Amino acid sequence: MRALCWLGEDGLAVRRVPDPELRNSTDAIVRVRRSSTCGEDLPLFAGRGPVLSVGDVLGHEFLGDVVEVGPGVRRHRVGDRVVVCASVACGNCWYCRQGHYASCDNGSAGPAVARWGQPTAGRFGHPPAAGGFAGSHAEYVRVPYADVGAFAVPEPVDDDRAVFASDAVPTGWLAAELGEVGPGDVVAVWGAGAVGQMAARAALLRGADRVVVIDRYPERLRSAERHVGAETLDHRAVDVPAELWELTGGRGPDVCVEAAGPTGDDAEPPSLAERFAAATRPGTAPERPIAVREAVHACRKSGRVVVLGTFTGFVDAFPLGAVVDKGLTLRAGRQHGQRWIPMLLERMARGEIPTGHLATHRLPLDQGAHGYDLFRDRADGCLRAVFTP
Ligand SMILES: NC(=O)c1ccc[n+]([C@@H]2O[C@H](COP(=O)([O-])OP(=O)(O)OC[C@H]3O[C@@H](n4cnc5c(N)ncnc54)[C@H](O)[C@@H]3O)[C@@H](O)[C@H]2O)c1
Ligand SMILES: [Zn+2]
Ligand SMILES: [Zn+2]
Repeated sequence: MRALCWLGEDGLAVRRVPDPELRNSTDAIVRVRRSSTCGEDLPLFAGRGPVLSVGDVLGHEFLGDVVEVGPGVRRHRVGDRVVVCASVACGNCWYCRQGHYASCDNGSAGPAVARWGQPTAGRFGHPPAAGGFAGSHAEYVRVPYADVGAFAVPEPVDDDRAVFASDAVPTGWLAAELGEVGPGDVVAVWGAGAVGQMAARAALLRGADRVVVIDRYPERLRSAERHVGAETLDHRAVDVPAELWELTGGRGPDVCVEAAGPTGDDAEPPSLAERFAAATRPGTAPERPIAVREAVHACRKSGRVVVLGTFTGFVDAFPLGAVVDKGLTLRAGRQHGQRWIPMLLERMARGEIPTGHLATHRLPLDQGAHGYDLFRDRADGCLRAVFTP
């Protein structure tokens, strides 16, 4: 089959790779209809996070048709149109039974993923050497634990909207859950990418009074206003914490969500400690919690700060003192799509969660490298490049 492979210094290109095969009785093989870029992919290319090997297939936000099922698959049949959660969880370990699928003990494809001494859920489109599974920028994907991570898509939700139920939509929901967003809350979200926009939408659905999305790209800010119903701030034009205090009578937002990611916007050079942390871990680069620091600073006392960005290592100059003095609750994590995707698909079918506008660039898989250039450079208003094999 054809797949978009990482080729090291040569970037990305479509290559022929072996077709995936059923390996376990609970596997399914899915023929990909749509597969999207995600902010998580960018640090991988930049040599941050788990180290890619030449030939690795990227992509983890996808939907497709079931073309083969193992004998242990109960909930899916050949021909089902399914969206697949970006992470892989067994559904049966202690963590999965609590609904903490992202902490699954059995999800990863290999032991290397236990980088903090304990395993976490597997990920499509992450290096097999780091416990990940081959990605979805391909014609076919092997989906382990298909009954747990794949979900039939209701008819009214078309492919270009449904694909985001795989990752961006549940990640946004995670923010509202961790932030315990409720009626009357003021919520600020750093990052107007697909994840930040879906966090803003989830907050509004849970009754937030005002939701303010912060970014520097005018097209992304306009998109968050028009499609999600958020207010916006351009962080190059204003003092963000001062503005947020101003619009909350001096108090600050109840909930502050970081959806900007570990690379920051390069406005600030990495510190010595950040460079040291990166240098001592092969294949990593400095991570700067610029937006997390600003969120901690802006948040009201006793408020909640949620970190969605996929930081993979150590950061420097973290204002722990402010967290303590202000009595903040700091929460972070990866999405538990296995728990939320059916509910989110129903909301999408009812039009409560608009996602069609996220697919700003629809390209054949063969133009995947170009799609990533647009996405990385935020060029031509690109929010997400979505590939069709
Ligand atoms: N926790 C999870 O399960 C999960 C799942 C998917 C993605 N993510 C992470 O969420 C983050 C966002 O994902 P995305 O796909 O929307 O990424 P994206 O790269 O498309 O968007 C990130 C946005 O943040 C903005 N930004 C950067 N620095 C900022 C700052 N200091 N202040 C305000 N805005 C800033 C950028 O301009 C950009 O528009 C990424 O780190 C991604 O890895 C987490
Ligand atoms: Zn992702
Ligand atoms: Zn599990």
